[in-house]
Amino acid sequence: MARRVGVLTGGGDCPGLNAVIRAVARRSLDRGYTVVGVQAGWRGLVDGRFRDLGPREISGILPRGGTIIGTSRTNPYKSERGVEAVLRHLEEAHLDALVAIGGEDTLGVAARLHAEHEVPVVGVPKTIDNDLSATDYTFGFDTAVTIATEAIDRLHTTAESHNRVMVVEVMGRHTGWIAVMSGIAGGADVILIPEQPMTVEECCDEIRSRHGRGKDFSIVVVSEGYELTYASGERQAVAGEPAATDQFGHVRLGGVGDALAREIETRTGYETRVTVLGHVQRGGSPTPRDRVLATRFGLKAADLVHEGQFGMMAALHGDEIVAVPLRDAVVELKTVPPGWYDVARAFFG
Ligand code: F6P
Repeated sequence: MARRVGVLTGGGDCPGLNAVIRAVARRSLDRGYTVVGVQAGWRGLVDGRFRDLGPREISGILPRGGTIIGTSRTNPYKSERGVEAVLRHLEEAHLDALVAIGGEDTLGVAARLHAEHEVPVVGVPKTIDNDLSATDYTFGFDTAVTIATEAIDRLHTTAESHNRVMVVEVMGRHTGWIAVMSGIAGGADVILIPEQPMTVEECCDEIRSRHGRGKDFSIVVVSEGYELTYASGERQAVAGEPAATDQFGHVRLGGVGDALAREIETRTGYETRVTVLGHVQRGGSPTPRDRVLATRFGLKAADLVHEGQFGMMAALHGDEIVAVPLRDAVVELKTVPPGWYDVARAFFG
């Protein structure tokens, strides 16, 4: 039976990380385990940086955003002797098990370490993007959607007062989950996502038809990963800093909102403004729904450790928390199904 459990948070931070840490630690401490936080994601295992997670450390963290143990986008497979260092530090710290809380990158490393080196790891699915397979929802997503929806509500009143088009750029990387859900909830007039690349011309037509019906303001939600798509078939990716990629090869996205707003203003003649929500979507306190989901995931992860079910991940199927193989979560991105986009599309224009 495992006696010392490490907990690690990797990738972009996300509301609910502390709720998972608390749940893993509470249940494991109750069972007499020692719980250790690995600092700054995989970086902490490459460098050997740990801190104790006792009752005092986890007290009061449930509603706190961010992660008390820090995070990073370090990929040990991309650092020289990185994997070797991870294995050595796991052994030196006498960790019998590791709970890795992260998205496709962090969990991809966890799955590989388990498959290649039998590292006793279990996963917890985290990301505001909700793009992980094998789970219906990730924690953090509900908070991001809530923040984006509130922003859309606020933009409605100022758009209406000035008869403007408001473009709202939301996160989500290469999937449009945040855009679709916040757009439906906020009553967006057009939503542009990577999975269903509506053209710029169609977007402008929707706005014109709306204005033709006497609605002289519009809200357009665009997902950061949407490529400007034209009727001619041309597609144009807009990246924040095209040269900037992390150790997992992801480009830094951002900027499509500006480009789209320019296109809309030029083509329709309607005054257009843009709001980029950015990291506001990731900061601050998790919603109650995310706190509950994160807590249930954390308890399940602690149970998987206790049962020695390594190479597995806690997942949400319907309303049940279940265990799925880690590799199933990272095999492909979970994109927005057409049915969800149809719900949004019913209110376009
Ligand atoms: O994956 C979460 C996410 O917030 C994406 O939506 C976004 O593209 C990316 O992380 C931003 O990363 P960073 O915090 O490194 O700028």
